[in-house]
Amino acid sequence: MKEPRIHIFENSEALAHFFGSLLMQSCALKKPDEFVSIALSGGSTPRAVFEYLSEHFSESIDWSRIKVFWGDERCVPPDDPESNYLMALKSLLEKVAIPPDQVFRIQGEANPSAEAARYESLVIQQLSVEGQTPEFDLMMLGLGDDGHTASIFPNAIHLFDSTKLFGTALHPVSGQARITATGKLINNAKAIVFIVTGHAKADIVTQIIQHLPGSEHLPASLVLPCKEEVLWLLDQAAASTINTKLQST
Ligand code: 6PG
Repeated sequence: MKEPRIHIFENSEALAHFFGSLLMQSCALKKPDEFVSIALSGGSTPRAVFEYLSEHFSESIDWSRIKVFWGDERCVPPDDPESNYLMALKSLLEKVAIPPDQVFRIQGEANPSAEAARYESLVIQQLSVEGQTPEFDLMMLGLGDDGHTASIFPNAIHLFDSTKLFGTALHPVSGQARITATGKLINNAKAIVFIVTGHAKADIVTQIIQHLPGSEHLPASLVLPCKEEVLWLLDQAAASTINTKLQST
Protein backbone atom coordinates (compact mmCIF):
# COMPACT_ATOMS: atom_id res chain seq x y z
CA MET A 1 0.00 0.00 0.00
CA LYS A 2 1.34 3.40 -0.98
CA GLU A 3 2.07 5.67 1.97
CA PRO A 4 0.07 8.93 1.94
CA ARG A 5 1.70 12.19 0.94
CA ILE A 6 1.17 14.71 3.73
CA HIS A 7 1.48 18.47 3.26
CA ILE A 8 1.10 20.73 6.27
CA PHE A 9 0.32 24.41 5.85
CA GLU A 10 0.58 27.36 8.22
CA ASN A 11 -2.97 28.39 7.47
CA SER A 12 -5.97 27.62 5.32
CA GLU A 13 -4.97 30.25 2.72
CA ALA A 14 -1.68 28.47 2.04
CA LEU A 15 -3.53 25.16 1.86
CA ALA A 16 -6.09 26.60 -0.55
CA HIS A 17 -3.31 28.08 -2.70
CA PHE A 18 -1.66 24.68 -2.97
CA PHE A 19 -5.00 23.12 -3.98
CA GLY A 20 -5.44 25.80 -6.66
CA SER A 21 -1.98 24.98 -7.98
CA LEU A 22 -2.93 21.29 -8.13
CA LEU A 23 -5.95 22.19 -10.24
CA MET A 24 -3.76 24.31 -12.52
CA GLN A 25 -1.32 21.42 -12.90
CA SER A 26 -4.17 19.05 -13.77
CA CYS A 27 -5.25 21.45 -16.54
CA ALA A 28 -1.68 21.79 -17.83
CA LEU A 29 -1.36 18.00 -18.16
CA LYS A 30 -4.44 17.77 -20.38
CA LYS A 31 -4.48 17.99 -24.18
CA PRO A 32 -6.19 21.14 -25.55
CA ASP A 33 -9.46 19.32 -26.26
CA GLU A 34 -9.54 17.46 -22.92
CA PHE A 35 -11.28 18.41 -19.67
CA VAL A 36 -10.24 18.10 -16.05
CA SER A 37 -12.92 16.30 -14.07
CA ILE A 38 -13.17 17.16 -10.39
CA ALA A 39 -15.51 15.78 -7.75
CA LEU A 40 -16.16 18.39 -5.07
CA SER A 41 -16.73 17.78 -1.40
CA GLY A 42 -19.12 19.59 0.91
CA GLY A 43 -18.50 21.03 4.36
CA SER A 44 -16.95 24.17 5.82
CA THR A 45 -13.34 23.32 4.96
CA PRO A 46 -13.98 23.02 1.21
CA ARG A 47 -16.01 26.25 1.35
CA ALA A 48 -12.92 28.16 2.52
CA VAL A 49 -10.91 26.64 -0.33
CA PHE A 50 -13.57 27.58 -2.90
CA GLU A 51 -13.70 31.16 -1.66
CA TYR A 52 -9.91 31.41 -1.97
CA LEU A 53 -9.99 29.95 -5.49
CA SER A 54 -12.65 32.43 -6.59
CA GLU A 55 -10.50 35.32 -5.31
CA HIS A 56 -7.05 34.18 -6.41
CA PHE A 57 -7.48 31.68 -9.26
CA SER A 58 -10.39 33.07 -11.26
CA GLU A 59 -8.01 34.17 -14.04
CA SER A 60 -5.08 31.77 -13.65
CA ILE A 61 -7.19 28.64 -14.07
CA ASP A 62 -8.91 28.08 -17.43
CA TRP A 63 -12.27 27.14 -15.92
CA SER A 64 -13.66 26.37 -19.39
CA ARG A 65 -11.54 23.18 -19.26
CA ILE A 66 -13.00 21.91 -16.01
CA LYS A 67 -16.03 19.69 -15.50
CA VAL A 68 -17.44 19.81 -11.98
CA PHE A 69 -19.14 16.91 -10.25
CA TRP A 70 -19.86 16.12 -6.61
CA GLY A 71 -18.64 13.27 -4.46
CA ASP A 72 -21.74 13.58 -2.31
CA GLU A 73 -24.83 15.69 -1.76
CA ARG A 74 -27.42 16.19 0.91
CA CYS A 75 -30.92 15.20 -0.21
CA VAL A 76 -32.29 18.74 -0.16
CA PRO A 77 -33.31 21.20 -2.90
CA PRO A 78 -30.53 23.20 -4.61
CA ASP A 79 -31.58 26.38 -2.82
CA ASP A 80 -31.42 24.80 0.64
CA PRO A 81 -28.60 26.14 2.90
CA GLU A 82 -27.57 22.51 3.45
CA SER A 83 -26.93 21.94 -0.27
CA ASN A 84 -23.30 21.21 -1.25
CA TYR A 85 -24.18 22.46 -4.73
CA LEU A 86 -25.43 25.81 -3.36
CA MET A 87 -22.31 26.17 -1.22
CA ALA A 88 -20.02 25.60 -4.23
CA LEU A 89 -22.15 27.85 -6.46
CA LYS A 90 -22.05 30.80 -4.06
CA SER A 91 -18.41 30.40 -2.99
CA LEU A 92 -16.93 29.58 -6.41
CA LEU A 93 -18.92 28.53 -9.44
CA GLU A 94 -20.88 31.75 -9.98
CA LYS A 95 -17.63 33.73 -9.64
CA VAL A 96 -15.54 31.96 -12.29
CA ALA A 97 -16.03 31.46 -16.02
CA ILE A 98 -17.10 27.83 -15.93
CA PRO A 99 -19.74 27.01 -18.56
CA PRO A 100 -22.98 26.00 -16.78
CA ASP A 101 -23.21 22.84 -18.92
CA GLN A 102 -19.94 21.71 -17.32
CA VAL A 103 -21.44 21.73 -13.83
CA PHE A 104 -23.17 18.44 -13.03
CA ARG A 105 -25.07 18.77 -9.79
CA ILE A 106 -26.56 15.86 -7.91
CA GLN A 107 -30.30 16.57 -7.76
CA GLY A 108 -30.79 16.54 -4.01
CA GLU A 109 -34.49 17.25 -4.45
CA ALA A 110 -35.07 13.94 -6.25
CA ASN A 111 -35.78 10.50 -4.84
CA PRO A 112 -32.40 9.45 -3.35
CA SER A 113 -32.06 5.96 -4.85
CA ALA A 114 -33.39 7.09 -8.25
CA GLU A 115 -30.98 10.04 -8.24
CA ALA A 116 -28.03 7.87 -7.21
CA ALA A 117 -28.77 5.71 -10.27
CA ARG A 118 -29.28 8.71 -12.56
CA TYR A 119 -26.08 10.38 -11.42
CA GLU A 120 -24.11 7.15 -11.75
CA SER A 121 -25.25 6.89 -15.39
CA LEU A 122 -24.32 10.53 -15.96
CA VAL A 123 -20.82 10.06 -14.53
CA ILE A 124 -20.34 6.91 -16.63
CA GLN A 125 -21.52 8.75 -19.73
CA GLN A 126 -19.20 11.68 -19.03
CA LEU A 127 -16.07 9.89 -17.79
CA SER A 128 -16.13 6.21 -18.61
CA VAL A 129 -13.63 5.06 -21.23
CA GLU A 130 -14.22 1.74 -23.00
CA GLY A 131 -16.55 0.57 -20.28
CA GLN A 132 -14.00 1.07 -17.53
CA THR A 133 -14.87 2.48 -14.11
CA PRO A 134 -15.01 6.26 -14.48
CA GLU A 135 -11.89 8.06 -13.31
CA PHE A 136 -12.01 11.53 -11.80
CA ASP A 137 -8.84 13.54 -12.31
CA LEU A 138 -9.28 15.03 -8.84
CA MET A 139 -11.45 13.64 -6.04
CA MET A 140 -11.71 16.19 -3.25
CA LEU A 141 -12.57 14.71 0.14
CA GLY A 142 -13.28 16.15 3.56
CA LEU A 143 -13.04 14.22 6.82
CA GLY A 144 -15.65 14.12 9.54
CA ASP A 145 -14.56 13.76 13.18
CA ASP A 146 -16.25 10.32 13.16
CA GLY A 147 -13.99 9.24 10.30
CA HIS A 148 -16.59 9.62 7.55
CA THR A 149 -15.66 10.91 4.14
CA ALA A 150 -17.95 11.97 1.33
CA SER A 151 -21.19 10.73 2.88
CA ILE A 152 -19.91 7.28 3.78
CA PHE A 153 -20.47 7.18 7.52
CA PRO A 154 -19.24 4.44 9.87
CA ASN A 155 -22.82 3.04 9.97
CA ALA A 156 -22.64 2.40 6.21
CA ILE A 157 -18.97 1.51 5.71
CA HIS A 158 -20.14 -1.29 3.37
CA LEU A 159 -20.55 1.43 0.73
CA PHE A 160 -16.79 1.15 0.27
CA ASP A 161 -17.33 -2.34 -1.14
CA SER A 162 -20.39 -1.56 -3.23
CA THR A 163 -20.37 -2.63 -6.86
CA LYS A 164 -22.24 0.60 -7.60
CA LEU A 165 -20.57 3.97 -8.12
CA PHE A 166 -23.12 5.98 -6.11
CA GLY A 167 -25.26 4.95 -3.17
CA THR A 168 -27.56 6.45 -0.56
CA ALA A 169 -26.87 6.95 3.13
CA LEU A 170 -28.37 8.52 6.23
CA HIS A 171 -26.45 10.94 8.44
CA PRO A 172 -26.09 9.02 11.75
CA VAL A 173 -27.10 11.98 13.90
CA SER A 174 -29.52 14.08 11.87
CA GLY A 175 -30.94 11.21 9.79
CA GLN A 176 -30.55 13.43 6.73
CA ALA A 177 -30.60 11.42 3.51
CA ARG A 178 -27.46 11.65 1.43
CA ILE A 179 -26.23 10.52 -1.97
CA THR A 180 -22.57 9.52 -2.05
CA ALA A 181 -19.85 8.17 -4.27
CA THR A 182 -18.84 4.69 -3.20
CA GLY A 183 -15.37 3.29 -2.57
CA LYS A 184 -15.30 1.86 -6.07
CA LEU A 185 -15.50 5.33 -7.62
CA ILE A 186 -13.48 7.17 -4.99
CA ASN A 187 -10.52 4.77 -5.13
CA ASN A 188 -10.46 4.84 -8.92
CA ALA A 189 -9.70 8.56 -9.05
CA LYS A 190 -6.39 9.64 -10.57
CA ALA A 191 -5.70 11.86 -7.54
CA ILE A 192 -7.46 11.86 -4.18
CA VAL A 193 -6.99 14.93 -2.00
CA PHE A 194 -8.13 15.12 1.62
CA ILE A 195 -8.54 18.68 2.87
CA VAL A 196 -8.68 18.85 6.66
CA THR A 197 -8.24 21.80 9.01
CA GLY A 198 -8.71 22.57 12.69
CA HIS A 199 -7.77 21.07 16.04
CA ALA A 200 -11.06 19.18 16.22
CA LYS A 201 -9.82 16.87 13.45
CA ALA A 202 -6.30 16.24 14.85
CA ASP A 203 -7.14 12.96 16.57
CA ILE A 204 -9.08 11.43 13.69
CA VAL A 205 -6.38 12.50 11.22
CA THR A 206 -3.73 10.78 13.37
CA GLN A 207 -5.85 7.65 13.78
CA ILE A 208 -6.30 7.28 10.04
CA ILE A 209 -2.86 8.34 8.76
CA GLN A 210 -1.05 6.21 11.32
CA HIS A 211 -3.46 3.25 10.95
CA LEU A 212 -4.01 3.19 14.73
CA PRO A 213 -6.03 0.28 16.19
CA GLY A 214 -9.72 0.70 15.34
CA SER A 215 -9.02 2.86 12.31
CA GLU A 216 -10.04 -0.05 10.09
CA HIS A 217 -13.64 0.71 11.08
CA LEU A 218 -13.36 4.30 9.84
CA PRO A 219 -14.53 4.90 6.24
CA ALA A 220 -11.79 7.42 5.46
CA SER A 221 -9.17 4.75 6.23
CA LEU A 222 -10.54 2.72 3.30
CA VAL A 223 -9.58 5.45 0.82
CA LEU A 224 -6.80 3.49 -0.87
CA PRO A 225 -6.45 4.70 -4.43
CA CYS A 226 -5.35 2.26 -7.08
CA LYS A 227 -3.37 4.88 -8.99
CA GLU A 228 -1.50 7.29 -6.78
CA GLU A 229 -1.03 7.75 -3.07
CA VAL A 230 -3.55 9.79 -1.12
CA LEU A 231 -2.65 13.44 -0.71
CA TRP A 232 -3.44 14.97 2.69
CA LEU A 233 -3.58 18.76 2.82
CA LEU A 234 -3.62 19.74 6.50
CA ASP A 235 -3.24 22.91 8.46
CA GLN A 236 -0.94 22.81 11.48
CA ALA A 237 -3.86 22.38 13.86
CA ALA A 238 -5.23 19.29 12.12
CA ALA A 239 -1.68 17.88 11.85
CA SER A 240 -0.73 18.70 15.44
CA THR A 241 -0.66 15.11 16.71
CA ILE A 242 0.66 13.10 13.75
CA ASN A 243 4.11 11.53 13.87
CA THR A 244 6.45 14.21 12.46
CA LYS A 245 8.43 11.57 10.53
CA LEU A 246 5.36 11.02 8.33
CA GLN A 247 5.24 14.58 7.09
CA SER A 248 6.19 15.15 3.45
CA THR A 249 6.61 18.93 3.92
C1 6PG B 1 -20.50 16.81 3.45
C2 6PG B 1 -19.10 16.39 3.11
C3 6PG B 1 -18.44 15.76 4.29
C4 6PG B 1 -17.50 16.81 4.83
C5 6PG B 1 -16.93 16.42 6.15
C6 6PG B 1 -16.01 17.53 6.69
O1 6PG B 1 -21.37 16.74 2.57
O2 6PG B 1 -20.67 17.29 4.59
O3 6PG B 1 -18.91 15.78 1.97
O4 6PG B 1 -17.73 14.59 4.00
O5 6PG B 1 -16.43 16.99 3.90
O6 6PG B 1 -18.00 16.21 7.05
O7 6PG B 1 -16.79 18.67 6.84
P1 6PG B 1 -16.15 19.99 7.51
O8 6PG B 1 -15.04 20.42 6.59
O9 6PG B 1 -17.29 20.96 7.55
O10 6PG B 1 -15.65 19.58 8.86
